[in-house]
Amino acid sequence: MTRVIGASLLGVDGVAVEVEVRLSSQLPRIDIVGLPEAAVRESAARVRAAIASVGQRFPDRRITVNLAPASLRKGGAALDLPIAVGILAASGALDPEHLEALGLLGELALDGRLRPVRGALALTLAARDAGSRCVIVPTENGPEAALTPEVQVFEARDLAGVLRHLVGDLSLPRAEVASPKPGDRRVPDLADVRGQERAKRALEVAAAGGHSILLWGSPGSGKTMLARRLPGFLPAMEFAEAVEVTRIHSAAGLLDSASPIAVERPFRAPHHTTSSAGLLGGGNPPSPGEVSLAHRGVLFLDELAEFQRHTLDALRQVIEQHSVVIARAKTSCVFPAHFQLVAASNPCPCGWRGSGVRDCRCDDGVTARYTSRISGPLLDRIDLHVSVAPLAWSQIDEPSRGPSSAELLARVRDCRARQLARGGPEGFRTNSEIPDDALDRVVRATPEARRLLGSAVERLGLSARAARRLLRVARTIADLAEEAEAGPRALAEALSYRAAELTSPCEPGPRRRAANRFGATPGAPRRV
Ligand SMILES: Nc1ncnc2c1ncn2[C@@H]1O[C@H](COP(=O)(O)OP(=O)(O)OP(=O)(O)O)[C@@H](O)[C@H]1O
Ligand SMILES: [Mg+2]
Repeated sequence: MTRVIGASLLGVDGVAVEVEVRLSSQLPRIDIVGLPEAAVRESAARVRAAIASVGQRFPDRRITVNLAPASLRKGGAALDLPIAVGILAASGALDPEHLEALGLLGELALDGRLRPVRGALALTLAARDAGSRCVIVPTENGPEAALTPEVQVFEARDLAGVLRHLVGDLSLPRAEVASPKPGDRRVPDLADVRGQERAKRALEVAAAGGHSILLWGSPGSGKTMLARRLPGFLPAMEFAEAVEVTRIHSAAGLLDSASPIAVERPFRAPHHTTSSAGLLGGGNPPSPGEVSLAHRGVLFLDELAEFQRHTLDALRQVIEQHSVVIARAKTSCVFPAHFQLVAASNPCPCGWRGSGVRDCRCDDGVTARYTSRISGPLLDRIDLHVSVAPLAWSQIDEPSRGPSSAELLARVRDCRARQLARGGPEGFRTNSEIPDDALDRVVRATPEARRLLGSAVERLGLSARAARRLLRVARTIADLAEEAEAGPRALAEALSYRAAELTSPCEPGPRRRAANRFGATPGAPRRV
């Protein structure tokens, strides 16, 4: 009997599979046991043809292939190569010694070529953890699999090359980590957006600290425009983040040989008709949803109030836990989902409630039903609530006075560097990740700032969670100003992003606004 290490994908994780092959002198046939799914059962036909194509004889005996652990379902075609090599070793064409500490993965074509597999990084990690010191992968997967530390990764084009390498006739090339090419994603510049200085500042704070943000206001005021420009001033991913994202995107089949490593920080904008399974992950076998594809990047939910209520409610837990657990009868998968939430919404179905320029045509019941799709607990988890007011003609007509994406990117990078220097050694990269037990020590709110927060919590009826989140935002605002302590100025600005919320009482319409000689702007604090 021979043993080879292969691996199979379970969600976005690899699971090592020990491929045991035994030949016995019964009628010729091949049995693959150990809960193989269709793709693995069909591997017998591919393996038979591939072995013939390299001029080896397929054994004329009963072949039993056991995939251990037997309790786990195995899918995908990555087990083709270990099954083929296992059969050749069992039939005497290869010395079993050559298979010592060896991991193999790859799909076989009928002519013996190796085809790339999904999730090569996760599979290589699993093979390494099962004791492989050397892993052979299809050439296209090499740059990705080479990200795995402490293991030698070799690239092979076909089964013949693998066999020659194993018997020592030829040495396969070592896989090298691809030097990331700049992505071709073109993000429009923030300078295109006219007016909306307050929303731009809020986006700067959100980008700097990784905070979640909700932009709400009347139609055509620039909410979608603003949100879609956020990736233009988010810092590039660090290497460790790129590895995490690559693992997930590769398992989801989003990478190809032209771009084997995830370079761009993810920006996912699922449509509001997306199902719960599409957003959170699901299916059988489970596959990652949008929240996991947005891991280490941005999840943009445009028209938030149009999403199904139960989908949004399920999001609450994910936001707190930074992961999704999908349980199935025999297995459960954990998908990482640490993203920055950016949402946009109108305040009512007609969109003009509280705009100050047009009267809202929705009655209170309709508006309440509309906004009630976004539950209070979800809103409570959003750090910055920004009302995006309609622009006056003078603002539409004049060029933007706000910062460009490049200017913001420079400021955000500096601010993130300060956060990383402080929290990196303790495991939190941005202020939004400061754990509760380190909050007071890291934020360093002055006594005056704390008093201000205390009175705001009382007056605005903020939850303990909102109060703690405000401290994190204040820390970011202080970091942007290079202040060691979070003083009353930083806290007041943080509070201003909680004072006007989507569900706040309606603002006066145009006639009453005209009468307001103080020129109260829409979205002003709900209680003064
Ligand atoms: N502040 C702005 N500066 C420049 N152009 C703008 C601005 N706001 C809106 N526009 C123009 O209006 C178009 C629509 O804007 P956008 O889609 O961002 O509005 P929205 O607030 O998301 O509206 P809705 O609530 O209907 O989704 C933009 O493509 C742009 O041409
Ligand atoms: Mg929009």
